Amino acid sequence: MNYNKVEFEAAFGTLKQIPQSDLPEIVFAGRSNVGKSSMLNRIFNRKNLARVSSMPGKTITINFFKVENDVRIVDLPGYGYAKVAKGEKRRWAEMMEGYFQSPRNIKLVVQLVDMRHKPSEDDYIMMRFLQDAGLPFIVAATKSDKLNKTQYNERKNALREELAEFGDNLTILPFSSEKGEGTDELKKIIESVL
Ligand code: GTP
Ligand code: MG
Repeated sequence: MNYNKVEFEAAFGTLKQIPQSDLPEIVFAGRSNVGKSSMLNRIFNRKNLARVSSMPGKTITINFFKVENDVRIVDLPGYGYAKVAKGEKRRWAEMMEGYFQSPRNIKLVVQLVDMRHKPSEDDYIMMRFLQDAGLPFIVAATKSDKLNKTQYNERKNALREELAEFGDNLTILPFSSEKGEGTDELKKIIESVL
């Protein structure tokens, strides 16, 4: 896959049915503000491919990006932002259902969690959904640069236990969009499923 050939394809922000597709898809999921847009910008080496915000809940659309005509990158809207109104939460759920229930060819879901904290209840709901749906997923532990060495090792070990229900084989990858940690590994994992 040529990481330099990525283009924005479409954004879906309403109930409007997301088109079914058999193009291989790599999906990025996680709570609002966890660093999804930053990760996409980092792995595609683009400053502004996906918008980065300090205001959580800004990406309220499902965004499709295409790498040539080979692969689709799917940026799911962030969840778990407390101040989002009920109507918005319903819209989020409907969009997610619309996406996951349409016939697709999902090769991998990259589930982002903030490395500094135990995964949130919403993170667990999301990962259990992925697990129950039989979707292949890995966990990227973001913002690893915000931890000092001691904290880093502590959280790395703690995460393994906190995610024990998803099995010993679950890949947990520390990641930093700021410093680049995990970028090459993530790209390799993506290549390996395509
Ligand atoms: P939504 O689109 O709102 O759901 O958020 P998002 O998951 O796309 O997060 P985004 O990439 O916009 O990042 C949110 C904030 O965290 C921004 O201020 C980023 O600069 C910061 N951030 C993201 N990744 C990292 C990281 O690896 N290290 C550090 N230090 N900050 C990060
Ligand atoms: Mg975003």
